[in-house]
Amino acid sequence: MKKLCLLGLFVSLASHQVLAATTPVPLENKDAFISNLMNQMTLDEKIGQLRLISIGPEMPRELIRKEIAAGNIGGTFNSITRPENRPMQDAAMRSRLKIPMFFAYDVIHGHRTIFPIPLALASSWDMDAIGLSGRIAAKEAAADSLDITFAPMVDISRDPRWGRTSEGFGEDTYLVSRIAGVMVKAFQGAGANAADSIMASVKHFALYGAVEGGRDYNVVDMSPVKMYQDYLPPYRAAIDAGAGGVMVALNSINGVPATADTWLMNDLLRKDWGFKGLAVSDHGAIFELIKHGVARDGREAAKLAIKAGIDMSMNDTLYGKELPGLLKSGEIEQQDIDNAVREVLAAKYDMGLFKDPYLRIGKAEDDPADTYAESRLHRADAREVARRSLVLLKNQNETLPLKKTAKIALVGPLAKAPIDMMGSWAAAGRPAQSVTLFDGMNAAMADKATLIYARGASITSDRKVLDYLNFLNFDAPEVVDDPRSAQVLIDEAVKAAKDADVVVAAVGESRGMSHESSSRTDLNIPASQRELIKALKATGKPLVLVLMNGRPLSILEEKDQADAILETWFSGTEGGNAIADVLFGDYNPSGKLPLTFPRSVGQIPTYYNHLSIGRPFTPGKPGNYTSQYFDDTTGPLFPFGYGLSYTDFALSDMALSSTTLNATGKLDASVMVKNTGKRDGETVVQLYIQDVTGSMIRPVKELKNFQKILLKAGEQKVVHFTISEDDLKFYNAQLKYAAEPGKFNVQIGLDSQDVTQQSFELL
Ligand code: BGC
Repeated sequence: MKKLCLLGLFVSLASHQVLAATTPVPLENKDAFISNLMNQMTLDEKIGQLRLISIGPEMPRELIRKEIAAGNIGGTFNSITRPENRPMQDAAMRSRLKIPMFFAYDVIHGHRTIFPIPLALASSWDMDAIGLSGRIAAKEAAADSLDITFAPMVDISRDPRWGRTSEGFGEDTYLVSRIAGVMVKAFQGAGANAADSIMASVKHFALYGAVEGGRDYNVVDMSPVKMYQDYLPPYRAAIDAGAGGVMVALNSINGVPATADTWLMNDLLRKDWGFKGLAVSDHGAIFELIKHGVARDGREAAKLAIKAGIDMSMNDTLYGKELPGLLKSGEIEQQDIDNAVREVLAAKYDMGLFKDPYLRIGKAEDDPADTYAESRLHRADAREVARRSLVLLKNQNETLPLKKTAKIALVGPLAKAPIDMMGSWAAAGRPAQSVTLFDGMNAAMADKATLIYARGASITSDRKVLDYLNFLNFDAPEVVDDPRSAQVLIDEAVKAAKDADVVVAAVGESRGMSHESSSRTDLNIPASQRELIKALKATGKPLVLVLMNGRPLSILEEKDQADAILETWFSGTEGGNAIADVLFGDYNPSGKLPLTFPRSVGQIPTYYNHLSIGRPFTPGKPGNYTSQYFDDTTGPLFPFGYGLSYTDFALSDMALSSTTLNATGKLDASVMVKNTGKRDGETVVQLYIQDVTGSMIRPVKELKNFQKILLKAGEQKVVHFTISEDDLKFYNAQLKYAAEPGKFNVQIGLDSQDVTQQSFELL
């Protein structure tokens, strides 16, 4: 997906000084094995290990193999098949010390089988489903000879203008942290050294999701308390779950680029958190230290990065060029280089590569005859996970589920959009293998009903936007403009609508609109599609919007125009089938929003767990000097945690086992949940806690636990949550993590706003 450049790929390193081999050390003793190996390495070989290069189709393979055999490259990314990687590993085995290469890739939400985008996975609130997606991604990637992924991406995103919102798990620290741990464990399986596992490298360390204004690569300026309390825990959770690697963020934090931040990388990550793994720079980030304005030149950039503890440099040449000179002049010490080399070798060791460099490459005779073979996909699992990630936002008059015998008009630029179905960062997924909404609905309806299709609109009629989307890193233009005029497209769709019983409109963003460097100034559905929706509404036919997008959209008007709205994000290879399952009621939707939908872009930030304020808004009392925008209704369009079902659930009898809790005790919070409707269904029962008074201002509420439960029609069940002092801890002004005695409100609900509340006292 990414365009790669050859610029300065091959660095001629200083002369080899071959060191004498020492007595071999058994492989079982990791530290001694690595020390022994390092004793034999020349400076050039050491620096070679710190180079991670991107392999593009246009690259001269023979030269690369020569460089590998000379010990000048430690690993690659973007080469993703066994036949591609085997010759490179062969070259490594011809090198003096036979140090294996590793092969990396951005396996973010699936590898060959594409699962829903991370934001959609988070919407499932289903840790088993999310774990399954990660496990399958790892298996497929490992079967394609990959050893490590640059994932999970756990940047908290509270500004949906940021295009990479799609790539993360939403706005909430607790939910994202839970998922971070699940994904790391799923990728690494029985261990990063297992043949069907890949090592996880959590990214982007740190705080990348908080770039100012949601503009990609922009600065981050954040108070230490907010950092510790809200933004750092997901990375920590990934590391505590055993992530072998960390990718360092491109942004600066409070004036220091992460890539040069010794506090972040050494004091926090390694010393405080005890991280012992591999720290990889992001693409070209060491060079960018010059642009940030903290390094005069490449030499200083390399010095800052190695001093900060950046072990591997991704796709720039500065380590190779500058480290020998820096060492010679005494500006860096041998120890700085050795620390980094040790981490790279240790990661390779942990991936099982010293034991067997071909662990994931296997034998040539076992290579898949067809890399893209259908038999290599996990379609059933992808469909199951995808349907669990869809969020029903509106369903007036039971417009959904649709009858399979109905006459349905399917319109919209995303109805037949195999590329968009996959979302961005679609690894090795193939558009041709995506089930579109059109395909999925057709299959579900068999021959029992009629589907009338009309495109209705282009993704956008804004030529500049279109050019931008097609200029992005993609291999071929992927947003195709319809040559017909907007009016002709709309007329055709209106005709289809008039002929039908109900209209399904697949609208939203192309996948490139929610991607790296795809920041937006508004969150509307593009104008061309809004015109279409207006025209469809005017037909008077029931209107179902199927949204495809990688961030919350401000759909204030569309919320009124539509009878039903299903948020489907970008739902992956099996997306069309999964959406059809929900539209026709073969699966009862159970997803919940992992981030708030604002009414308009001007409301941002709208995250639910904001700090308490002195003049909170009082509903129904405009102009009373409280915190609000006077020109619009206060509050979100859809709150965090929100999502409907085809059945109804009622909560009652909330109870706390005690009105007090002591430091070593536990408290039970329970609620009766009843399925009061006519269908079986799942819902997510959410537990929020508010620390009413503290030494610091505390959030109005914070998610502390949740359970996704299945209830048959009419069934009821008491759901229990255990609360202990740990759930009440926070970072105070001195960054001490502790709970403070006093009153706590406990809220339980099926979203973050509609809750019932009880209180207790922490003694
Ligand atoms: C992104 C990373 C990604 C890397 C390699 C960078 O532009 O920020 O998330 O892992 O490219 O593809």
